[in-house]
Amino acid sequence: MSSKIISGKDIAREIRDELNEQVAELREEGLVPGLATVLVGDDAASRLYVGMKGRAAAEAGIHSRQVTLPASTSEEDLLALIDELNNDPEIHGILVQLPLPPQIDDAKVLLAINPDKDVDGFHPVNVGRLATGDPDVLAPCTPRGVIEMLVRSGVDPSGKHAVIVGRSNIVGKPMALLLLRKAPGGNATVTVAHSRTGDLGAITRTADIVIAAVGWPNTITKDMVKPGVTVIDVGTNRVDDPTRPRGYRVVGDVDFEGVSEVASAITPVPGGVGPMTIAMLLANTVEAAIRLRKAAG
Ligand code: GUN
Repeated sequence: MSSKIISGKDIAREIRDELNEQVAELREEGLVPGLATVLVGDDAASRLYVGMKGRAAAEAGIHSRQVTLPASTSEEDLLALIDELNNDPEIHGILVQLPLPPQIDDAKVLLAINPDKDVDGFHPVNVGRLATGDPDVLAPCTPRGVIEMLVRSGVDPSGKHAVIVGRSNIVGKPMALLLLRKAPGGNATVTVAHSRTGDLGAITRTADIVIAAVGWPNTITKDMVKPGVTVIDVGTNRVDDPTRPRGYRVVGDVDFEGVSEVASAITPVPGGVGPMTIAMLLANTVEAAIRLRKAAG
């Protein structure tokens, strides 16, 4: 069997085109959605991600404010910035790139963000809303992107067994909650496996949908999936490759070559889930702007 490639790049483009139109209409009504991204420190990968998020926002017609603070920033100063952004009427979405330097408590920072501006969906109030099935919650961008990819490529999770490999707060746990929702794109039977799971293959072989989000190359191999499975690869791992100009290449958590011989559909890395995360951040920002306008009357 040769798999269909689910192109996150193409689906994200489609979503961003829809958002461009929506933002243009909102701007005509006098509402300019605004996104603030906050980067603390100079981690190269984080700088790249935050830069991409800011540029994508600007391209969509979203007002973008990018704040970069030194790695030595105190927790107090970061909390003061968040307070300012919470009270800024031009800002509807706040994203603090994780991880933060060790002197700053991530949980305290996430708790300080106004849940209505929490476009990452990481605030405990939003985690709770997602867990209790609130249809209007701002849901974390990467798992939301995975649901969009499945639905838009004709894979309805309803009634299927989805196995998520990975239990992070950013992907694995919210992914499980979204797939469980009694809503379009949900209604799956969900298993969450992780690094301590015994005989992972025995579990993934029962899956109709495998979502790999562990951060380790080749975690899912051909022998670990059943024919016809849909595989979504959330991993982005750098592996040494002296043939490449940079000396490395980016691969996912799935052995793409092997698994694509068995799967009916699979996402590539790069060009899979990555572009969807950014598209969903823009979608969350637009949703937050609309809700905040409504709440302001
Ligand atoms: N670090 C890795 N992924 C993410 C994300 O989706 N949002 C934020 N804020 N930080 C991250």
